[in-house]
Amino acid sequence: MHWSGVVAHYRSRLTVEGEPVTLLEGNTPLVPVPRVAEWACPGAELFIKYEGLNPTGSFKDRGMTAAMTQAKHDGAETVICASTGNTAASAAAYAARAGMKCIVLVPDGKIAMGKLAGSMAYGAQVVQIRGSFDDGLRMVRDVSERTPIALVNSVNPARLQGQKTAAFEIVDALGNAPDWLCLPVGNAGNISSYWLGFREALADGHAASAPRLLGGQAAGSAPLLANAAVDEPETLATAIRIGHPARWCQALWALRESAGQIWSVTDDEILATYHCLAAADGIFCEPSSAAGVAALRKSLQHGKIEVEGRRIVCVLTGHGLKDPDSALRDAKLPQAIEPTLDALMNVIE
Ligand code: F0G
Repeated sequence: MHWSGVVAHYRSRLTVEGEPVTLLEGNTPLVPVPRVAEWACPGAELFIKYEGLNPTGSFKDRGMTAAMTQAKHDGAETVICASTGNTAASAAAYAARAGMKCIVLVPDGKIAMGKLAGSMAYGAQVVQIRGSFDDGLRMVRDVSERTPIALVNSVNPARLQGQKTAAFEIVDALGNAPDWLCLPVGNAGNISSYWLGFREALADGHAASAPRLLGGQAAGSAPLLANAAVDEPETLATAIRIGHPARWCQALWALRESAGQIWSVTDDEILATYHCLAAADGIFCEPSSAAGVAALRKSLQHGKIEVEGRRIVCVLTGHGLKDPDSALRDAKLPQAIEPTLDALMNVIE
């Protein structure tokens, strides 16, 4: 079957109008990861929803095709967003595709290089702010209230419409929802979207059950867990360095309704999981993406989850190549050798 992108493929199940602005996003693989399962949740059947394989390297493309389709339909000429990086790159690419102007606000110095590079390459106007994502979101909300510039952050309902298609794909691939769905939580748009998608799949008979949700927040940026906003969020997982999530209430509702769990994971726990995913099963994600798997492992270590015989899906939200600095930070770069067989034989371990 010819893949047409998430808006065209799931059109009848989305409340989005307009000719799709698409880069043929979605249709990402659900990869079994037996070795990571042994490490994180022995006895479970573990799959990775590898969202880093979307056109701009993150799950944001699902929501962005929907938001940009609607914005174009509504006659917008310019779009704006605040971002920790992935939303920016995605908005920039889809705006280019739509022939629209794009402005992105990113926290100065707290954005992975691959994301900045993408935003620039796709031709967005990049504005670095001396503040956090939360400051940026407040600023772009103000701009979109005062001007015809369309806001494409996940406070835009079309974003959730697009992002919920990941839940539809998981149900289509497995024939039902998994027992657990684990994912990182930042601004909380993604967890809200998945829950919307799984509830709809259950209501319309595509799935026989809904999963329990398990969210992972970075320890230095865990407002949902603390039940209090964090004014100065800190974590090396910069994608989820967010202290005032816009979809806070919706995320709490999704967690409650699904009988879910929310965990905070330290940067060390995130990095250990990040390395395990790449080295044990060949899945390279950006550090933030590993927070869902890290939270699953932590829940098991604390005896809070039954995994034996359970089917679990962890969402890896962004590709590892987005953030090469994190991959190289603790790596010992090899010394160059002479181009001879002897020299090579000497270094082969
Ligand atoms: N993982 C990655 C790689 C992300 O980029 C984000 C969010 C999340 C997880 C969390 O998703 O915000 O829906 O809870 N990135 C946003 C951005 C904030 O600007 O790119 P969420």
